[in-house]
Amino acid sequence: MTIDKSSSPSARAVIEPLPVNPLRSGLVEERTSDACAVVIFGASGDLTRRKLMPALYNLAVSRSLPGGFAVVGVARREKSHEAFRSEMSQGVAQFSRRKPIDPSVWGDFERRISYVAGSFEEPKTYELLKAHLRKLDEELGTSGSRLYYLAVPPAEHGTIVRGLRAADLVHPTSASRGDGPFTRVVFEKPFGHDLASAQKLNETIGDVFDETQVYRIDHYLGKETVQNLLVFRFANSLWEPLWNREHIDHVQITVAEDIGVEGRGKFYEQTGVTRDIVENHLMQLLCLTAMEPPISLSADAVRGEKVKVLKALRPMERQSVQESVIRGQYGRGFVRADEVPAYREEPDVAPGSSVETYLAMRVLVDNWRWGGVPFYVRAGKRLSRRVTEIAIQFKKVPHSLFRTPDGGVTPNVLAMRIQPDEGIALRFISKEPGQQTILRDVTMDFRYGSSFGSNTPEAYERLLLDAMRGEATLFTRRDEVEAQWEYIDPVLSAWAAQGNVPPPVYPAGSWGPDAAADLLAKDGRRWRKP
Ligand code: BG6
Repeated sequence: MTIDKSSSPSARAVIEPLPVNPLRSGLVEERTSDACAVVIFGASGDLTRRKLMPALYNLAVSRSLPGGFAVVGVARREKSHEAFRSEMSQGVAQFSRRKPIDPSVWGDFERRISYVAGSFEEPKTYELLKAHLRKLDEELGTSGSRLYYLAVPPAEHGTIVRGLRAADLVHPTSASRGDGPFTRVVFEKPFGHDLASAQKLNETIGDVFDETQVYRIDHYLGKETVQNLLVFRFANSLWEPLWNREHIDHVQITVAEDIGVEGRGKFYEQTGVTRDIVENHLMQLLCLTAMEPPISLSADAVRGEKVKVLKALRPMERQSVQESVIRGQYGRGFVRADEVPAYREEPDVAPGSSVETYLAMRVLVDNWRWGGVPFYVRAGKRLSRRVTEIAIQFKKVPHSLFRTPDGGVTPNVLAMRIQPDEGIALRFISKEPGQQTILRDVTMDFRYGSSFGSNTPEAYERLLLDAMRGEATLFTRRDEVEAQWEYIDPVLSAWAAQGNVPPPVYPAGSWGPDAAADLLAKDGRRWRKP
């Protein structure tokens, strides 16, 4: 590892030299945004320190930020620009994917960071911000363009949006690139708490911003492997003829985490895994797997196809919630040999909490492509290990020529590993070498690490730059977020109608409650061990 402390840009340090990989050549794309100030509301929160600031710093390293750039933190607590910069510097040092920090990049980046203290309810906060932003336009050349980033709970979204409008901090159009100053706004998830609150929020936002100015974030869409789903499906001719009910038996989507709620008990008590992961990340993975080819990669073409999938989901009746949805809550257990507490023992969690930390369900997509093909989806915390994958299980051969001890030939599986160990594996059957015909499962495996190197951009880098550039394809549209809630709402109401009974407990470090296995067993199937 080499560290060059020179401040000359031409002598910029190479912090982590990558091994030369011929498959990488031609992959690097020069993308920068027009001048702008990024204003982060909720700047003292974890997201700013762990994700947003490291992402912006990494964009500075890859020279993707415009010459006229500034980042302004807004939060309640009084603090100086210097104190805020120092907090951010610690966050970047700890969480940046490139380490150590390159002092020549940090020096220039740091002077562009500043802080405005104030309550989001107070008009004065927005007046202070306005004056500060004008000053930055003059001093740092941010040209009147603003990207507001609302890294705050959904209950505060409306207040901030109204505060911005009242202070005349919203330029009326999003403006295409190079077309004069723009104002855009990014909303961190969760977007609303249920369908009614999401609709209300959309109305409030719609009173102030045009939909083209609104960027609802789902950071899963910024992951390289998630973007690759579109490429894999639509840049290869091999899959499309097989990607339907004729050839696919069922699909399994798993978003498993081994971590618990990590000090976010208060937040999690309000969301549970259904609002935290299923309504957004998991639904997006399902949409990208099930959608029809869009006519282009424009934001509306892609999002339009995803909405069609959401509209085709068979609505959950109260009875089907009972039959098709399994909840669970983690109890004490062992994760990677460490003993961990039960969910109810986590800080800020009610001792009798009925919040679910695990959900599995059978989802049906009622259209010509998918009629009769179940999508089994599951998500949970404190599971055996961290893995997100989409597994397509193909149908069995119609007639087996080969006698095997279990009387059949195992079906082919295409597993798209979203994280970690990013890659795609195709499982098929092969003859074991020898005089006898013995069949074995084997896999063809593509690994991102070995083909492309492992230093890929973080989701937030891609998404922040896209928002600064006015590219909305990887953000959720108004009707899309409402369609997600429309599907999930009946599940939440069915639980509420049953009196929010505490879910069955599964031991931390396991693969979830037994009932989840029964859900598939009833259909003659079983979960893959990812
Ligand atoms: C967030 C959730 O959206 O996604 C967290 O709020 C979860 O609870 C996280 O841990 C998972 O993201 P990733 O990128 O680590 O899979």
